[in-house]
Amino acid sequence: MKRMKVVLSIAVAFLVWMGVPAQRNFAAEEIDPLGMEKTNGEKTMPLAGTKKILVAYFSHSGNTREIADQIHKKVGGDIFEIQSVKPYPGDYDTVVKQAREELDSGYKPALKAKVEDIGAYDVIFIGFPIWWGTFPAPVRTFLSEYDLSGKSIVPFCTHEGSGLEQSVLDISELCPKAILLEGAAIWGRDVKTAQDKVSDWLREIKVIK
Ligand SMILES: Cc1cc2nc3c(=O)[nH]c(=O)nc-3n(C[C@H](O)[C@H](O)[C@H](O)COP(=O)(O)O)c2cc1C
Repeated sequence: MKRMKVVLSIAVAFLVWMGVPAQRNFAAEEIDPLGMEKTNGEKTMPLAGTKKILVAYFSHSGNTREIADQIHKKVGGDIFEIQSVKPYPGDYDTVVKQAREELDSGYKPALKAKVEDIGAYDVIFIGFPIWWGTFPAPVRTFLSEYDLSGKSIVPFCTHEGSGLEQSVLDISELCPKAILLEGAAIWGRDVKTAQDKVSDWLREIKVIK
């Protein structure tokens, strides 16, 4: 009986000892949503190659597509172009007017295609041009169409001066249960030479080494 008690206490002590680091790990994941940093501070592998990544983007005149392609080349995974069924007119003034109306009414245009298995992705880059201080209507549809709870969302935009502006807040409102990582904003005129800036940012958020 006495021997059984000893064995039992050793077993309990072992389980308690095992339980402590497990709890710490959990806490660490809360402040480190991508699980990149172990409790002892040792860095794990960069994200690319360990998580399933989707680069989704909308682009009207090509700038954002250029950045999406650069990101995709660096991080791998899949790439998906968000396109509305009804294309936007080419004329700048007409698009500007239409975009304002769509923003004011919260319009969500039907999209041409769906991502086959969004559930399979851990990290979703979302790229767009800034239109009237936020993302264009097709991106609103995209963010509303899928359940992105628990996914890491990485916003990036191209713009002509305003940066990400209201877009990050708007993403968090549409996807309140997603984990928003630090985004990047690239000037439209700089997209062709943005390679280093894009790499630096991806390194900072620990997606690449
Ligand atoms: C309808 C419309 C609204 C825009 N609103 C803004 C804006 O609020 N802030 C800004 O910096 N740039 C604005 N721009 C400029 C675009 O964000 C910029 O040119 C972007 O790089 C275009 O990306 P794309 O080639 O991928 O469509 C706007 C452009 C359009 C067509």
